[in-house]
Amino acid sequence: KRKIAVLTSGGDAPGLNACINAVVRTAIYYNYSVLGVRDGYEGLITGRVMKLDLTDVNDIIHLGGTILKTSRSEQFKIKEGRFLAYEQLKQKDIDHLIVIGGDGSLKGTSIFSKEYNDISIIGIPKTIDNDISGTDYSIGYDTALNTAVSAVDKLRDTAESHNRIFIVEVMGRDAGYIAYGTGLATGAEGILIPETHMDHVYLLDNLRRNWHEKRSSLILIVAEGDETGGARRVAEEITNYLGNKEIRISILGHIQRGGSPTAFDRILATQLGNMAVTFLNKGAKNVMVGFQRQEIITIPLKDVGRRSMSLNEKALKLLEIMTS
Ligand code: F6P
Repeated sequence: KRKIAVLTSGGDAPGLNACINAVVRTAIYYNYSVLGVRDGYEGLITGRVMKLDLTDVNDIIHLGGTILKTSRSEQFKIKEGRFLAYEQLKQKDIDHLIVIGGDGSLKGTSIFSKEYNDISIIGIPKTIDNDISGTDYSIGYDTALNTAVSAVDKLRDTAESHNRIFIVEVMGRDAGYIAYGTGLATGAEGILIPETHMDHVYLLDNLRRNWHEKRSSLILIVAEGDETGGARRVAEEITNYLGNKEIRISILGHIQRGGSPTAFDRILATQLGNMAVTFLNKGAKNVMVGFQRQEIITIPLKDVGRRSMSLNEKALKLLEIMTS
């Protein structure tokens, strides 16, 4: 039987198990045997694989985390590490590989695919940050966004009760997708994301206007990747400007990476996992499957990279109106 190996790499994201489930079911349907690689590229390099059958993926679709475990591999970044991975694949007679990863992992996959052309590789985009080019959404973003939204709703309750200002820092290493979405969905009075280079004088004036004229609580969402240097710096700035001592900071952190995936993420992960195997079965190689305008498409792995949110005029206007 032909073999397909599947691995999860980089930071975990809700929906990975739903994707593994789809890969395994589709591969078995097309008569492949499936091997799960443990611990991402680290497990590929050391040959830690396990056979995956239908019974291994029953009832995992709703689980957070990844049954295969994951890692951020330093070794795979160097040529020698990638050679060891190739040797393991050859030894185990595997020439089809599916990598569920973020932009860093997929970049590694692209280099690997150029070095060893006899392995057919398909990438599947996952990251809560949603900052992978070639796909409208990556697995995990919708769940992380919903987690952040429900946390901010709770913070608004306590902020209102105490007439307080809350600075809430959400994840997004270099991108503002989670922050922008959370801010819009919670009616925040300010959103700081790396992509807008927000004018702080404007922001502070806006907060002051809101504080004095309209509201007894304020919520400001800050992306961890914003150039302001995170929630603590912003809190200092606001304290200096408004003279308000009733400021609290909440850094949501890794809770955004866990939990049961939303229906959207489960469906996205299922479609991407299914199509990754379908394309592989049809002979495609060295591409990433992506979701664009309601369709599952492929783009060459070499073209996959990090993307920033592009806020057009309409999106900026929306932001201005909804936070004013
Ligand atoms: O890329 C996903 C992400 O959660 C980022 O939002 C965050 O900056 C980073 O990973 C945290 O990484 P780690 O889990 O290694 O602390």
